[in-house]
Amino acid sequence: MKGSPQSWRVTIANTQQTIDCTATQTVLEAAVAAGIDFPYSCATGNCGTCASHLDAGKVSMLPRGDAALSPQQVKAGQTLACRAQPRSDVTVTWLAR
Ligand code: FES
Repeated sequence: MKGSPQSWRVTIANTQQTIDCTATQTVLEAAVAAGIDFPYSCATGNCGTCASHLDAGKVSMLPRGDAALSPQQVKAGQTLACRAQPRSDVTVTWLAR
């Protein structure tokens, strides 16, 4: 559709649900809008509650606090769902229990 933002398919491995997420939405926003009980707290990239493993695909990260995701976590393939906007179809697994 003309003028509509590009959207990607995001699969939440924990619930086996696949949802649409536009390039200007975060994975967390799309999940919450779809009624998925995705664990989060601040939604601003500062607490780390939404830390997730990026199983597949590419995301672009909005600015975040350094404490929310360590360089080791980034190296291990983790991201913050509240800061991650899809740049391809993606699959994530949230890490909170
Ligand atoms: S919900 Fe706090 S860092 Fe994502």
